[in-house]
Amino acid sequence: SENVGILAMEIYFSPTCIQQEVLEAHDGASKGKYTIGLGQDCMGFCTEVEDVISMSLTAVNTLLEKYKIDPKQIGRLEVGSETVLDKSKSIKTFLMQIFERCGNTDIEGVDSTNACYGGTAALFNCVNWVESSSWDGRYGLVVCTDSAVYAEGPARPTGGAGAIAILVGPDAPIVFESKLRASHMAHAYDFYKPNLASEYPVVDGKLSQTCYLMALDSCYRSFCHKYEKLEGKKFSILDAEYFVFHSPYNKLVQKSFARLLFNDSLRNASSIDEAAKEKLAPFSSLTGDESYQSRDLEKASQQVAKPFYDAKVQPSTLIPKQVGNMYTASLYAAFASLIHNKHKTLDGQRVILFSYGSGLTATMFSLRLCEGQHPFSLSNIASVMNVGEKLKSRHEFSPEKFVEIMHLMEQRYGAKDFVTSKDCSLLDPGTYYLLEVDSMYRRFYAKK
Ligand code: ACO
Repeated sequence: SENVGILAMEIYFSPTCIQQEVLEAHDGASKGKYTIGLGQDCMGFCTEVEDVISMSLTAVNTLLEKYKIDPKQIGRLEVGSETVLDKSKSIKTFLMQIFERCGNTDIEGVDSTNACYGGTAALFNCVNWVESSSWDGRYGLVVCTDSAVYAEGPARPTGGAGAIAILVGPDAPIVFESKLRASHMAHAYDFYKPNLASEYPVVDGKLSQTCYLMALDSCYRSFCHKYEKLEGKKFSILDAEYFVFHSPYNKLVQKSFARLLFNDSLRNASSIDEAAKEKLAPFSSLTGDESYQSRDLEKASQQVAKPFYDAKVQPSTLIPKQVGNMYTASLYAAFASLIHNKHKTLDGQRVILFSYGSGLTATMFSLRLCEGQHPFSLSNIASVMNVGEKLKSRHEFSPEKFVEIMHLMEQRYGAKDFVTSKDCSLLDPGTYYLLEVDSMYRRFYAKK
């Protein structure tokens, strides 16, 4: 099959959120630390009636409804998540309830897990399946779903929650340029979840930032190399209209893009004019390690990158800044932001995505966009996702209430034998929510 890629998308994020400015004051952090220091505006979170299963049920159900897809037309269903509610049973199997009802149990795929990278692994599996000899002509469906919560402390404001469903098939408006794909995988203890009794990760914040940037450099070098072999010319950031990053918090995205310009300057690529060359030349002799520590380099490269950042990156930052890190869904929430903001002018454009999962796994890959045919068109995807309305209709919580909910969720994690408040008053019609977990740890959901 030809032009395999993304046909349709739907995004769901919790309607409950807290303003970073308010959280900052409550936590006693200095003014501007979360909003300017981390670059975040607002953070979404699940209350006791929502979890990764309910969010993924909502995303899948609304995608099928809004694009009028017969559930029998799905032949592969893959989930990426790092939120563990069961060490054996896939989230995918919960989603099968939607398909069993229509008599479709012939669906391949299970869950993929490695920190924030599982969604990308799931997406590649689906794309590869449609391109393979085992493809049976039906659609692939990818779901990224996560609730990112951190213990009290500096990482807490980098949480978030949401789910994205992505329909994969041939003749797509968003096509994978499969030859332009570069990975970097290694062993690191930067962010991991060894404590199975807690939802919170163990995180070495500083190390995780450096691991992210090192993986980015490595992927970009290899990506550029592959591009040059294929196209017979040097790649620079001018060869793609947009760059979309996994977004734990916006400041890291700013630093990441600046890093690409630093790489371009080391490679003498066409994005670097005389003025930029002059600014970045003093750093060309730094060793790799030194370059990750240098504040002067960070400053100089961010300065050089600023106009490019505003044009090529900023349009993808809306949802990540407003909702926070959605782990596996974060990169695709950034991509959804780009479609939301720019769907009218994306025809013919190339977009580069960078996926990172701690531990660590990372891939840089390229998409080629065209307007497409209704219902699988960029404008329809933007209208189905309805991002502006979803962001506007959220409910802001006080920090006291937020902390109280975090405490309740700590008790509920891994627990059995409880019923929730069943209060779905803040949820939109069509949203799934958790009713109870019985004495056998079985989870029961309802749809509003
Ligand atoms: N006004 C403006 N900026 C401020 C202020 C202020 N009042 N106070 C601090 N800052 C800036 C700092 O200078 C720093 O920016 P810089 O890096 O450009 O210098 C930034 O705010 C963060 O402050 P720090 O003190 O450096 O870091 P902190 O201890 O708050 O921790 C961290 C931040 C490491 C990101 C933490 O939130 C964390 O561990 N998060 C989870 C890990 C993570 O997301 N890692 C990313 C990759 S892995 C993944 O995706 C999970």
